[in-house]
Amino acid sequence: MKKHNRIGVLTGGGDCPGLNSVIRAVTKAAINKYDMEVVGFLDGFKGLVENDYMTLDLKAVSGIGYRGGTILGSSNRDNPFAFYSNLDGNRVATDQSDRAIANLEGLGLDGLIVIGGDGSLHIAQRFVEKGVAVVGVPKTIDNDLSATDITFGFNTAVDTASSALDRLHTTAEAHHRVMILEVMGRYAGWIALHAGISGGAHLILIPEIPYKIENVIAKIRKRQWYDKKFSIIVVAEGAAPLGGRQVVQKMVAESHDPVRLGGIGHHLAQEIEQLTKIETRVTVLGHLQRGGSPIPYDRILSARYGVAAVDAFASEQAGTMVSLRGQEIITVPIKEAISELKKVDPESSMVEAARAMDISFGDR
Ligand code: F6P
Repeated sequence: MKKHNRIGVLTGGGDCPGLNSVIRAVTKAAINKYDMEVVGFLDGFKGLVENDYMTLDLKAVSGIGYRGGTILGSSNRDNPFAFYSNLDGNRVATDQSDRAIANLEGLGLDGLIVIGGDGSLHIAQRFVEKGVAVVGVPKTIDNDLSATDITFGFNTAVDTASSALDRLHTTAEAHHRVMILEVMGRYAGWIALHAGISGGAHLILIPEIPYKIENVIAKIRKRQWYDKKFSIIVVAEGAAPLGGRQVVQKMVAESHDPVRLGGIGHHLAQEIEQLTKIETRVTVLGHLQRGGSPIPYDRILSARYGVAAVDAFASEQAGTMVSLRGQEIITVPIKEAISELKKVDPESSMVEAARAMDISFGDR
């Protein structure tokens, strides 16, 4: 087996709880187990293109495992294959991937660990196709990456959303209101589904199951008939009515995934108030789901992922992503992880269980 001496690591895309825990585990495993040196690129792929980096030694990663965010910084805009910069006063995208590879070579790095979600791993795969030894680590609060049971950060986001539902419950009951909690989840409703079951929501609206407003209203009215004067709805930002569209908040032109969703909660509230005359309030949980310390589950998962990524790299398994299958960490081709988004199966046992507990998805 070839001896590797130096690896690079970067965190790409939207941040999520557990990034620092992965960085710490990667650095510790690389140094302690393989006697390697570790370099961390700053602000995701931007640092790779601009050769902006820091040395990661044991001191640099000491005490960061429980901290949210990422000591390396992140970006969900910068793509080396279409890298925006100022040219004659205009913002122009050019392919800077060769410059990024030259930086890796210049620093004597044998490869790169990319901690990222779907967007970052698509970029990682393009580098693999150009001959760079990349190992991926599955990150996203949305849990929508294929080929792994769970991405790190997801369970912390569920914990945050579930606690928010607990708090909304008491105030909803006191004021006989409908309370809507809008959570993240662009194309997949994992956070809404898990938090909704955990937090006792009466309606869970997700992108995979289009709702009809009349079913939503019927559920709220049914509760009123048996003297439950309040209702709790958790809605994923990507949910939409049958035949309708997602609510787009804005477009970020330079991002490789430019759509930013948001606003479905307020849209729903207006409709519910109009049709039922029940006071309806909205809480948009937003980036609270991404911030703060990872819960112990995510600290452990991200530590295991970090060590496994270094192991994969040392055993010549470049082009793979570490993945959780059952209780075990395995490696899968990055290609497989990005082949399609992992969505909630409307026929799954989890959805069935929710329906059995009289939780409505607004579709019937
Ligand atoms: O992909 C993770 C995610 O948190 C999505 O759920 C959300 O739509 C998006 O990132 C928000 O990104 P930004 O931080 O750019 O607003």
